Amino acid sequence: MKRLIVYYSLSGNTEEAAKKIAKELGADLLKLETVKAMPKSFAAQIMVGGGQVAFNHIPKLKPFDIDPSSYDEIILGSPIWNSKGVPAVNAFLKDEKAAAKVTSLFFLSGGGEVQKGLTAITKLLPNLKNTVSLLDKKHEDSKNNDAKITEFVKSIG
Ligand SMILES: Cc1cc2nc3c(=O)[nH]c(=O)nc-3n(C[C@H](O)[C@H](O)[C@H](O)COP(=O)(O)O)c2cc1C
Repeated sequence: MKRLIVYYSLSGNTEEAAKKIAKELGADLLKLETVKAMPKSFAAQIMVGGGQVAFNHIPKLKPFDIDPSSYDEIILGSPIWNSKGVPAVNAFLKDEKAAAKVTSLFFLSGGGEVQKGLTAITKLLPNLKNTVSLLDKKHEDSKNNDAKITEFVKSIG
């Protein structure tokens, strides 16, 4: 089984989880990057990112150095922005063949409220079986992330 972890990360939390999951599963990594960079300040990120989610903006992604079509299974990682998954991940999921390969999803959020994001993204992922909600390292309960990752990896099999 050839597995690929596809993720977006602005401030490193999703990336850290992606790398741990990749190591435990022996999977490759593909980081999604938008052509247009996000602003540096958190306040501006909230304005720009929140607006993009609200208007369902689909950004242009930088070309990939890995071909997702050569993998059997995709594990997808997204931060939660404005209660939903990020625009870069929605851009990736425009490729329906790639979306059909996604069996597992991990969300990173500041507060752990992911239901709205899960409901929205589930519609795009016909073969989704495993999900996990992880917390930003600023949250005191983020100490449970590693145990949740281990369970998530076990459920992927
Ligand atoms: C634009 C923006 C919007 C966000 N909206 C939410 C939100 O609605 N709910 C939440 O729990 N966290 C929210 N967060 C916090 C992120 O989900 C959290 O910090 C996550 O760990 C970031 O992942 P990253 O470090 O991989 O970028 C938001 C962060 C940004 C930058």
